[in-house]
Amino acid sequence: MEDRKISLNQRRTNYCGNFTKDDVNKDVTVMGWVEKQRDLGNLIFIDLRDRTGIVQLAISKPTADEKSFEEAFHCRAEFVVIASGKINLRKEKNEKIKTGEIEIIVEKLEIISKSKTPPFDIAKCENVSLELRLKYRYLELRNKDLQNTFIMRHKIVKHARDFFDENNFLEIETPMLIKSTPEGARDYLVPSRVHKGCFYALPQSPQLYKQLLMVAGFDRYFQVARCFRDEDLRADRQPEFSQIDIEMSFVEQDDVISINEKFIKSLFSKILNIEIKTPFLRLSYEEAMQKFGSDKPDIRFSLEITSLEEAALNSSLNAFKDAINSGGGVYAINLKNKADLVSRKEIDRLIEVAKTYKAKGLFYSKLLKDNKSSNFEKFLSEDEIDKIYKILDAKENDMIFIIADVNKETALVALGALRLYLGEKFNLYNKNDFCFLWVVDFPLFEYSEEEQRLVSKHHPFTMVKEEDLDILTKNPENCRAKAYDLVLNGCEVGGGSIRIHNQEIQNKIFEILKFSKEEINEKFGFLVDAFQYGAPPHGGMAYGLDRLVMLMLQKNSIRDVIAFPKVQNACELMTNSPSIVQKNQLDDLQIKIKD
Ligand code: AMO
Repeated sequence: MEDRKISLNQRRTNYCGNFTKDDVNKDVTVMGWVEKQRDLGNLIFIDLRDRTGIVQLAISKPTADEKSFEEAFHCRAEFVVIASGKINLRKEKNEKIKTGEIEIIVEKLEIISKSKTPPFDIAKCENVSLELRLKYRYLELRNKDLQNTFIMRHKIVKHARDFFDENNFLEIETPMLIKSTPEGARDYLVPSRVHKGCFYALPQSPQLYKQLLMVAGFDRYFQVARCFRDEDLRADRQPEFSQIDIEMSFVEQDDVISINEKFIKSLFSKILNIEIKTPFLRLSYEEAMQKFGSDKPDIRFSLEITSLEEAALNSSLNAFKDAINSGGGVYAINLKNKADLVSRKEIDRLIEVAKTYKAKGLFYSKLLKDNKSSNFEKFLSEDEIDKIYKILDAKENDMIFIIADVNKETALVALGALRLYLGEKFNLYNKNDFCFLWVVDFPLFEYSEEEQRLVSKHHPFTMVKEEDLDILTKNPENCRAKAYDLVLNGCEVGGGSIRIHNQEIQNKIFEILKFSKEEINEKFGFLVDAFQYGAPPHGGMAYGLDRLVMLMLQKNSIRDVIAFPKVQNACELMTNSPSIVQKNQLDDLQIKIKD
């Protein structure tokens, strides 16, 4: 009992993974979790782990006292242990661990806390089911890879804070319980106990507050902000996530872009030791859609989309002709020099991919010398086929894919999806590349079938491009926004815009969005009011922090970089939330659950 007290009062000399040859003969104390215990009779080895790595403990009598040897004998995986002893140079180096040149010859060892047998082997949890791993997430988080992920995430956030601080940005927190302004995704609502029938919303982003901070004169703001959106989950989406959120006064689009390129460059250099070339490529939304069938193109490989409009105009193939005549499009990609690698089964798979993206079908030609096959050439004349080959620069062993649709976007998006599938399937890019680009000149509005009106593509405070101001009233569908997305390897890692600070333009936008005066007042009266007291020109952007970390660390899912993530159906498996609450809690809120 007395011994226990003495050792618990001892200080840790260093973390397990930090000892080196230079520490030989030093007296040290370590604390950590047992990764493995091997009992050789008179000698017991324990691999002791903490967040820095593993160190080997060697326990034998009489160097270790009787009690310590006994404790070591009873050690099992995940027991928490404190040990002291002397660092010894090992005869044979263990290349697998950082501290492989040394070991600790233990004099005292004590079990601080026992562990049940863990439900899976923490060192090898990759093959364990997601459900089990997330149920015991605190155990999975002991895994070396995951520990490293969160150490890296910390470093990324720390660098962001340092960078924006050095560039005169102030970190200011904004509220979590805010007014619901139903634009964008669905809000998470929080009922008010004090105000019967009233609700707060959790912020989808600090957007309106950061604009108010500009009106307040803070000039440059940033925040590592928590955001909440009640939307369907995907590999790069969580219902709660973090943004590195930025806003600047007295700036134009180029200023926001430029400081953010500097940020990314410094981040990759500092954290990954990778030099990223700036300025990044900029593509207009229109160009991105035409060339890549996506507003977040993966430009690690080309395989660009080509329009076959010229060849399809008077085509003898109805699908081509009809698509063009009804304002749609006929588009193609040419998978160069790989036709021999595309099996019949693969073609069927590709047709399925195209159909998933609403294409009615997929035309193809496999240009093999002795075994040419195509599902459309028989309907075309030699001349027409030649014309298509010429446009696509099609040669022997090329594989052509064509999608025709009365809706241009449908054809482009389906071909874009096919392009990504082929890129991955045929290793058309280096997975270690980091290819950034800005997608700019987004449409200001898009048509919502559901609401039967134009809605903002970004948000209602996004500035229209000056060149398009003239057509704002007559032709709003064709107006482009001063909005920009930052894309990395086919993933939208950030987005933002220059905001409207001119009352007249703002009113016009509200009119186009068909907001009544009452609605404007009710939804964003506070912002409209604020703008009447001297609003500086301003703009900004927000990074999806989790996505950025996921891509930097080359993880497949955003879940891998969030300590306690949610699964597909928005549940958190460890705490089992969301959950039913007690009746008195609901009564307090005056809420009744419908049957
Ligand atoms: P936006 O809605 O484009 O812009 O969001 C900015 C970035 O946040 C990330 N993101 C997400 N990450 C994980 N899970 C989600 N559900 C999720 N939704 C978005 C993306 C995205 O690029 N207030 C504006 C920014 C501005 O205009 O300044 C905003 O929130 O990486």
